[in-house]
Amino acid sequence: MQYKFICRKLINNYLNILIVRTNIIAGNWKMNKNLSEAKQLIKGIKKGLKSIDTDNKRVIIAPTFVNLVGAVKRTRKSKIEVAAQNVHAAKNGAYTGEVAADMLTDIGVGVVIIGHSERRTYFGETDQQLAEKVDRALAEGLEVIFCFGELLEDRKSEKHFEVVENQLRHGLFHLLKENFEKVGLAYEPVWAIGTGETASPEQAQEMHAFIRSILAKEYTQELADSVAILYGGSVKPANAKEIFSKPDVDGGLIGGASLKAEDFLAIVAAAE
Ligand code: PGA
Repeated sequence: MQYKFICRKLINNYLNILIVRTNIIAGNWKMNKNLSEAKQLIKGIKKGLKSIDTDNKRVIIAPTFVNLVGAVKRTRKSKIEVAAQNVHAAKNGAYTGEVAADMLTDIGVGVVIIGHSERRTYFGETDQQLAEKVDRALAEGLEVIFCFGELLEDRKSEKHFEVVENQLRHGLFHLLKENFEKVGLAYEPVWAIGTGETASPEQAQEMHAFIRSILAKEYTQELADSVAILYGGSVKPANAKEIFSKPDVDGGLIGGASLKAEDFLAIVAAAE
């Protein structure tokens, strides 16, 4: 019995070493870049990517809805994938101003960002609504980058682990194990978004390791080891390498620094 257990553990350890998670560098353009600016930015990123090693990296950009069709067209035959910044939970219907998941897949968008703190804060999106959006997105064949993270007061009162665990439990843990093949996570401490203040690489690693541990508890160690966990919040060319070097950080969700080709490219290059 004991011998069997040790053997299984050795095999599992060996398999874990073989799991290589793909790094994801995703640029969240938010409500920035009109058509001509978007064209320029894509052109710059495409050109720069030619001289960067992008093996084992996915490069994603998330322009506004109106620029998605153009972005898909302009990134065809390139390494760049196009994501949407939001999606509605309903299949279709009378939801003025909203966009359905199958409208995204229909134009060639393969990924959607769900749960960004700006959606939670400014548009009142709740865990329940986010869970429904995730379900719809997955049902229509989209991949999901699910965002979450604590507020400054949560961290100050040392509730950050609890807050993050709750966001995951209520927004994501209704999923089946196999759904996670199409889900990436983005830990974004709200106090670090657009503020110039970054979580230290150690703080990011600590939280990412915690997230992996609850994934392992809720699902399996194998699943926990295979899910990409991005860090987001004031990632810049100057700090990207150190943050990405942490073992549980698998790339980043980049806001401000994704709006300049040069900066975004430097961040892509920093991921290993
Ligand atoms: P930031 O934004 O890089 O400008 O802090 C990150 C995000 O909101 O995803």
